[in-house]
Formats: sequence, structure tokens, C-alpha cells
Amino acid sequence: MILTVTLNPALDVTYGVGALIPGSTHRIRDVGVRAGGKGINVARVLAGFALPVRATGFLGGVTSDQITALLGQSTVEVCFVPIAAETRRTVVVSDGVAATGFWEPGPAVSAGEWRAFVAGYPGLLDGVEVVVLAGSLPPGVPDDAYAGLTTTARSAGARVILDTAGPALRAGLRAGPEVVKPNRGELEEVTGQAAPTPRQALGAARLLRNDTGTAVVATLGGDGLIASTMDGDWRAALPAALPGNPTGAGDACVAALAAGLLRARPWSELLADAVAWSAAAATAPTAGTVDPGCAHRLRPSVVVAAI
Ligand SMILES: Nc1ncnc2c1ncn2[C@@H]1O[C@H](COP(=O)(O)OP(=O)(O)OP(=O)(O)O)[C@@H](O)[C@H]1O
Ligand SMILES: [Mg+2]
Repeated sequence: MILTVTLNPALDVTYGVGALIPGSTHRIRDVGVRAGGKGINVARVLAGFALPVRATGFLGGVTSDQITALLGQSTVEVCFVPIAAETRRTVVVSDGVAATGFWEPGPAVSAGEWRAFVAGYPGLLDGVEVVVLAGSLPPGVPDDAYAGLTTTARSAGARVILDTAGPALRAGLRAGPEVVKPNRGELEEVTGQAAPTPRQALGAARLLRNDTGTAVVATLGGDGLIASTMDGDWRAALPAALPGNPTGAGDACVAALAAGLLRARPWSELLADAVAWSAAAATAPTAGTVDPGCAHRLRPSVVVAAI
């Protein structure tokens, strides 16, 4: 069983318009609504591959009911902690060429609600082999939240993948998650190293792994990924970037990493899966969704090189 933690979920709304013109009124051509937030995206991808997955985090207000109903259409086991404030929405307006995002602020989580989450978390680890801690922290949740959740998961015998940014990433790394998945910008920010090329990204990833003892899988958009682990360093990529929408491709990559840890796959195989799943997400008609058949077709083209 894989547990995904999404402390700051969202109802992701996508509006399709003919053209986005500031200052004018738009008639929406089509409306897409999805349960979102990084851990929820990871859970949905895993469920699509028929893997057993449980999702937790905070949900509040009417948005909570919509997200719960949407997740109810999948095999994801839904175990969220209720909060008084309203879960946020994200709105993306897409004119077919560009996507413009509007992110509501996350709801405030009270000290009591955070304590309730921490109290219930060990129970959610029952039967769990891999925990995914992903996304931003809502207001009221301390910066070291992921550190505490990592420590508890590790003492319950679970392996932890962390995908976040900024202070939450820095604090979380101190608790020794097994794998961290920064993108290029997050890697540069946490290491203070510029990483414009895969070679420089690998240098920064090695630095981070040496400092923390955590395996670093850094995604580089259309350039695929590089990994620095205790068992060696790799680069994995398709021969060329594909046209598409990379939003949520990182979450598909995290899903593949979680699946690989669950099945105890060797790094070279697991990283090839991660590139195939995330490239499938980048080329999907709906951003962030993964068609397992598409991932399967892309998989033989992935080139994995030990460095
Ligand atoms: N244009 C593309 N063509 C092929 N694969 C892509 C493309 N864009 C992204 N990918 C795949 O997706 C992975 C993750 O992409 P990226 O580095 O953009 O993640 P991210 O910034 O964490 O994304 P997010 O957080 O929005 O989910 C890459 O490692 C790569 O395998
Ligand atoms: Mg990401």
C-alpha cells in the first residue's frame, strides 16, 4: 500500500476559452474539474496503474465534498482530516496556446486541526510500505511538518518520497526521507547551484545527496531526469522532448518512483518507468493524466545511462 499526503489540496478548475483578453468578459467553451494537489495527483496516477493507494491530508467546506466525490470515482482510499476553512480552488484559463493560472490561497489550518492530523497519521500507516509527502504547506502548518511525518513513517518501517519546495523541503530533508524529487528550479534553490544543463544538475544533486544521505531524483522537463543515489548515478531521458503540457508531469514521475519502491525495482528500471510515465503525462490531452498504454509504448524508447 502507498500513502500519499496532500496537506494543501485543491479543486482544479480548467476553463477553455477562444482567446484570453484582459478586461473583457469571456464565455467559457468547456469546463474541466478535477481533484488536485500534488499528493492527490500522485494517488490518481497510481490508481490508474491498479496500485493500492490511500490518500490523506486536509479538506474543508463545500470544495471538500466535490473533491471527495471526484476521488470516489477512483479506487483511491480517501482518508482526509476535516478542517473548518474552505479548501482552495485553482483556476486555469486555457486558450489552446497558453494557460493562465489563478491560485486561491490555501485555507488556514488551526493548531488543533494540525494536532488531529498528527494524532491520526500513525493509524494511516497501517500496511503502508511507501509514503509520498507532496506539495506546499497551507498556512498554520509548521515548516517542519514533513520532517515529523517522515520520522513517524520511517519508524513505522515505511519508505518516504518527498516532493516539495523552499523551507518545507529544507526542513523535511533533515529527517532523512529515502528519495527527494526536486525539479530544476527547486534543485537550484535548495543547493544554491545553477543547473542549466543535465551535467550541472547532476553536480548539484550529488552535493545534495552527500549533504543529506537522501537519493535525489531531479526532473529536468523535456530533458528527462538525473538521479544521484547510494547505488550510483544515472541520467534517463527520451531521445527528444515531446510537444505537450508538462503541468503535473512531475507528479506522474513521483507516482512511478513510489510504484518502483513498492515493487523493489532496481534504480535503472525505476527511472526508466519514471521518464515513461511522466512523458505520458506531458503528452496527455488532459494535463497530468497518465494513460498506462501510452506510458507502456514510450517505455522502450527511454535511454538510461549510468554516469
Ligand atoms: N516536453 C516533455 N517531453 C517529454 N517528457 C517530458 C516533457 N516535459 C516533462 N517531461 C517529463 O516529465 C518529468 C517531470 O517534468 P518537470 O521537470 O517539468 O516536473 P515538475 O516541474 O516537478 O512538474 P509538476 O510539479 O508540475 O508536476 C521530466 O523528468 C520528464 O521525464
Ligand atoms: Mg513538481
